[in-house]
Amino acid sequence: MENKIREVPAQLASSAYINKENYQTLYKQSIDNPDLFWAEQASQFITWFSPWKTVQSGDFKTLDIRWFIDGKLNASYNCIDRHLKERKDQIAILWQGDNPNESSTLTYQQLYEKVCHFANVLKNLGIKKGDRICIYLPMIPEIAIAMLACTRIGAIHSVVFSAFSPDSLSARILDADCRLLITADEGVRGGKKNPLKSHADKALEKCPNVKHVIVVKRTGTAIPWNQKRDLWYHEELENADAECTPEKMDSDDPLFILYTSGSTGSPKGILHSTGGYLVYAAMTHKFVFNYQPGDIYWCTADIGWITGHSYVIYGPLLNGATTLLFEGVPHYPTFARFWEIVDQYKVNIFYTAPTAIRALHKEGDQWVKKTSRKSLKILGTVGEPINPDAWEWYYRVIGNEHCPIVDTWWQTETGGIMITPFPGATPLKPGSVSWPFFGVLPLVVDEQGNPVEDGKVGKLIIKKPWPGLMKTIYGDQQRFKETYFKEIPGNYLTGDGADRDKEGYFWIVGRNDDVIKVSGHRIGSGELEAVLNSHASVAESAVVGAPDEIKGNIIYAFVTLKSGIQPNDQLKKELIQLIKDEIGPHAIIGTIQWAKDLPKTRSGKIMRRLLRKIACNELTDLGDTSTLADPGVVDDLVGERKK
Ligand code: PRX
Repeated sequence: MENKIREVPAQLASSAYINKENYQTLYKQSIDNPDLFWAEQASQFITWFSPWKTVQSGDFKTLDIRWFIDGKLNASYNCIDRHLKERKDQIAILWQGDNPNESSTLTYQQLYEKVCHFANVLKNLGIKKGDRICIYLPMIPEIAIAMLACTRIGAIHSVVFSAFSPDSLSARILDADCRLLITADEGVRGGKKNPLKSHADKALEKCPNVKHVIVVKRTGTAIPWNQKRDLWYHEELENADAECTPEKMDSDDPLFILYTSGSTGSPKGILHSTGGYLVYAAMTHKFVFNYQPGDIYWCTADIGWITGHSYVIYGPLLNGATTLLFEGVPHYPTFARFWEIVDQYKVNIFYTAPTAIRALHKEGDQWVKKTSRKSLKILGTVGEPINPDAWEWYYRVIGNEHCPIVDTWWQTETGGIMITPFPGATPLKPGSVSWPFFGVLPLVVDEQGNPVEDGKVGKLIIKKPWPGLMKTIYGDQQRFKETYFKEIPGNYLTGDGADRDKEGYFWIVGRNDDVIKVSGHRIGSGELEAVLNSHASVAESAVVGAPDEIKGNIIYAFVTLKSGIQPNDQLKKELIQLIKDEIGPHAIIGTIQWAKDLPKTRSGKIMRRLLRKIACNELTDLGDTSTLADPGVVDDLVGERKK
């Protein structure tokens, strides 16, 4: 554990909204008197058509948790309309394409017009409040327009990351019973094309309830066309009315569904409701990034993930910010790309993932030194633990030692940032996610739910509801209860291991369930195993994560072949390709180890703890293996690992 403390730069400390003095007071208020605290935040950050009657009801036992009860609001109105008086000509979305010579802007007024038009397109196609719309788009301005247009008419968007395969897309469309799909002819990333429309066509073979597909022309390539079903985005937009009154949504009405991987089973449709999520996204964006009017803000996350929802779209637009949307990747055309964009647009706040920092660090300082990065004030990271080495490089080389780093811990389920430093208030410890955000009560506990001593690793739980918390798993309240509230009753189980030091700083160790974080992407071992097991030659498989310097973790698969089938390299290639095809290219298997057998307990459960140790090459102390049905299996696995 690194304990070097970095004090807050004096200049920032004086301008920060949250400072050393008021953090403790505000945090205490948020815990001691949550209703008063959240009522103030909700009035400050959101414009309500009619106010709520009760701030919050329900708890982690009843699980019918509601925020700002009976309050009426609209997300697109809050992200756009209410800013028009003051900032209609300010840029809302600053877009840079994969090709550095391609860029565009949308002012708040232009965004308003596009969103109203597109909301009318949806209405004309019969989309109503509560209908689910699937958005399968790359990082182009139309993705923001589509999301906001859905919210304008009360439709629930379900954004599917554009690298997902046709099978992953159809599974998500079917689970949410989506009525319409919005996609593009192709996506472009790192100079490579992604055939989105073809993928969508393939996915829709299994989805009869999708009656229309709206296609954005991104590259103009020739694509297959279904006359009865497919519509061009630009043509539909031209014919739509310009005015669209925002739907008055109840605070508890669903805002969006976003699929994420869990330890077992198929991906979960995390459902967020309107009022609580929006208050939390706006407030965390303001306080964690010390956002000031006029700042140019850039979060590099893809909108297909929660970070893109909360901190590329909702948080910044709710605060009337200029948010940068980047279609490309950090290494194209060169490793200087991020920093060139920072200089070009004078970015003030920059938020990215440790995996990107590590990958760029590896390429050396020369790419960074070509740029000035003078505009930067605050740096952020999210998605996985950042090792102190990468932290130091980010702080020293990227931020020139004058930008605090906010290492923000949170999850798809939490809606917004939960544990984080506050720039201007928190002395920083490289590698620690620092302090709880307002209203958040985290605790580290043992298997029985008892608090562990400071400095000891345990399970990270959250003791009380906060407004950003998911509403449920779409269509599966039972799974919601069992996943998050069963193991430590009355608390929200995060699935992460963590410890807290004597000064109250939290340190995240990583997942302690069967979720693997690969380059910040969340992948469930169960999903991977189901795909591997579907191969004709595979009898059984077990997948774990193994540490990797750049990606954080790699996918390490133990595979048992059917009898009579000989392991060979061609088969390895096939299995790697199968995962790529069935899930998407972000799910790349790092290692396949052939296993004569998998280590199972007498009751038939795979002993994953053991497999993790073998994958991590920790072969000397494998712990207690006495409950294994056949302890000899371990020797074979260890022998194979040593080869
Ligand atoms: O393991 C934690 C890790 O990412 C998980 C949540 O993944 P996802 O729902 O995809 O959301 C990622 C973006 C919010 C967590 O359970 N994680 C997230 N942020 C951090 C982190 N691990 C360590 N440090 C972080 N700052």
